[in-house]
Amino acid sequence: MRILLQNITILPMTSPKEIIEKGYVIIQDQVIVAVGPGDPPLGEYDRVIDGTNQLVMPGLINTHTHAAMTLLRSYADDLPLMEWLETKIWPMEDRLTGDDIYWGTMLAITEMIKSGTTTFTDMYFHMDRVAEAVEESGIRAVLSRGMIGIGPENQLALEQSRQFIQDWQGGAQGRITVMLGPHAPYTCPPDYLKQVLSLAQETGVGINIHVAETLDEMDTIKGDYGMSPVALLEKTGVFEVPVLAAHCVHVNDEDIAILKEYGVGVAHNPESNMKLASGIAPVPRMLEEGIAVGLGTDGASSNNDLDMLQETRTCALLHKVNSMNPTVLPAEQVLSMATSLGAKALHLEDQIGCLEPGYKADMILINLDQPHMTPRYDLIANLVYAGKASDVDTVIIDGNIVMENRQLVTIDEKKVLHQCREIARRLVQN
Ligand code: NI
Repeated sequence: MRILLQNITILPMTSPKEIIEKGYVIIQDQVIVAVGPGDPPLGEYDRVIDGTNQLVMPGLINTHTHAAMTLLRSYADDLPLMEWLETKIWPMEDRLTGDDIYWGTMLAITEMIKSGTTTFTDMYFHMDRVAEAVEESGIRAVLSRGMIGIGPENQLALEQSRQFIQDWQGGAQGRITVMLGPHAPYTCPPDYLKQVLSLAQETGVGINIHVAETLDEMDTIKGDYGMSPVALLEKTGVFEVPVLAAHCVHVNDEDIAILKEYGVGVAHNPESNMKLASGIAPVPRMLEEGIAVGLGTDGASSNNDLDMLQETRTCALLHKVNSMNPTVLPAEQVLSMATSLGAKALHLEDQIGCLEPGYKADMILINLDQPHMTPRYDLIANLVYAGKASDVDTVIIDGNIVMENRQLVTIDEKKVLHQCREIARRLVQN
């Protein structure tokens, strides 16, 4: 399959502010083979898409979510974290079946594709069903079976993770990357993390873990081990493999130095951290140090949507007001967090995150012919400060058109919404 996009504005995200006002992109099967200004070279194409009044840019990368938590959207809000988890979220999650997880993930993928996300990172359970949804929908994903080290099922979680790697690493035509998912330092003690680490080393996969999300976590880990969560993970050896650390809200200078030294990727979730009042991660500092900080939405019960364009805006605004400095996190920097830097946080920077020959053909077309995009002195500022999920017109993942003119190609949206409404009805009846 050979696809040509022409007469289109291109934001390659290869360098911060480069824009090709009118150019072309050529896709051969799963890969981008040419990006350039002006008219395309003559050739045979299976599909030609005219991009007049449209922008093409890399698909957005969500570096942290729990996709099937869409089923818990608006079930419990405005509560303290532990009360929220213990009285609402965990009891409800106990009731979720494999089928529920499949449909909840499909709902998440529907929302993500419609808002321009082409890769998402998931940590949850019944991961076979998540992988199935990824395979059928055509999206790209980094998947982890969440593991709790305390409690009776910790060995089962390791065995299931090993099996999941065997079954799905490189699955869905290469669109699935598996990482191990020990939940957090306060739920996975060092002895358990060492078992996770040796499985990671044996199988050659990375580790996805929540780190330093709340002050309670800091107190617990300091009390038990006399050091910060980041220092504890370093001492345990976890950073010897590629790691994606979600949150890193409460990190000090020493922690930041450790994250930098080991090339740890960070998933920043500004809306979730704000909604759960977890705190404000020192993102400008981490970026200054060259740490790959990507953006994530976290689960839909603590956000409550999976809209990555909106997340870029929240991220920029939060850090400006927090530092009382409007020059902090300019638009192009937060957009890179949602694309190229997010890819680096996932350790996939040689495959996704920018439009360049050799990269996977993951890209989104955005309709610029709209009042809130007019005028256009600065395209990137428009995207970040005025852009909406509904501006995403067409989505291509791995060279396949999965949404065109806002019509989903691989997903029966009506059916997904119907199924999820039925599941929600059942969940509150029991
Ligand atoms: Ni999370």
